[in-house]
Amino acid sequence: METRVLPFSDAAIVEAARLILAGEPVAVPTETVYGLAADATRGEAVARIYEAKGRPSFNPLIVHVQDLDAALKIGRFDDPALALAQAHWPGPLTLVVPLRDDAGIASIATAGLATIGLRVPAHPAMQALLRACGRPLAAPSANASGAISPTRAEHVAKSLGGRIPLIIDGGATERGLESTIVAATGGSLRLLRRGPIEVDAAEDAGGKVEAPGQLASHYAPSKPLRLDAESAADDEYLIGFGPVEGDASLSPSGDPVEAAARLFDLLHAADASPKARIAVAPVPHRGIGLAINDRLRRAAAPR
Ligand code: TXA
Ligand code: MG
Repeated sequence: METRVLPFSDAAIVEAARLILAGEPVAVPTETVYGLAADATRGEAVARIYEAKGRPSFNPLIVHVQDLDAALKIGRFDDPALALAQAHWPGPLTLVVPLRDDAGIASIATAGLATIGLRVPAHPAMQALLRACGRPLAAPSANASGAISPTRAEHVAKSLGGRIPLIIDGGATERGLESTIVAATGGSLRLLRRGPIEVDAAEDAGGKVEAPGQLASHYAPSKPLRLDAESAADDEYLIGFGPVEGDASLSPSGDPVEAAARLFDLLHAADASPKARIAVAPVPHRGIGLAINDRLRRAAAPR
């Protein structure tokens, strides 16, 4: 794929919005680092972020919205969270809050969690893109997995060139550091990631800021899960893939991007089913299949 680089302009934003509404990820500057943005309401669009980054596991992503009103439709804010949002938005602060049932966010964006990281970015390019798309945008840093966060369009091109269709070039980012992340999910505020904004909140877990993708609170089914299943036992809910049909399928055509988009939804469905156990068909261990299998291995690990 050819990666175009367009200087930030109205025309560039129109093109970026067209691609995003077509389900493609686009790199765009924010005031912190460049983000790789996709439509947060569509699982396959979000799955393409992981595919482009070559990320071997799923992490909950930050969902960017235009303003506080848009955030309030997606998350539930208690008073301390509301006060922080009013003080620092738009700006480099992400608030992790309980996800509303009717938020319409694809489950892969939150990695199946019941909470969501929300941020109203200040950068005019990201703001313009949010307005042009008219929907929330999931965006991690726009670099290949394991690489350094990009603060210039050139960094993005070097890391993701050939893997994404478009980079909006807005020059060097102002802050150069990812947003401060504060969780407001359990009555008190907890600092999950240090960043440009100083917040008076207790650091999570004794000062160690953990990657939530690895946390125990991360969604895991309550039932035993068996991997590489070609068929189901009587008490198993089988999640199929490709030729293995199952009770429901990650992707009947064997498309790993579609499978990634449906993974957390089907784990929830399997968990809610009357069957005592869950079985999952084999998913090829390459590309985004690596991330799918990483998640499935965690879900299958004894607790
Ligand atoms: O500055 C930034 O925040 C940049 C720009 C592009 O906005 N974005 C960014 O996204 O750094 P990302 O995907 O690299 O960081 C996502 C992190 C996760 O690793 C996790 O630490 C936290 O946000 N996060 C997101 N949703 C969460 C949730 N529901 N619970 C806990 N942590 C969450
Ligand atoms: Mg990152």
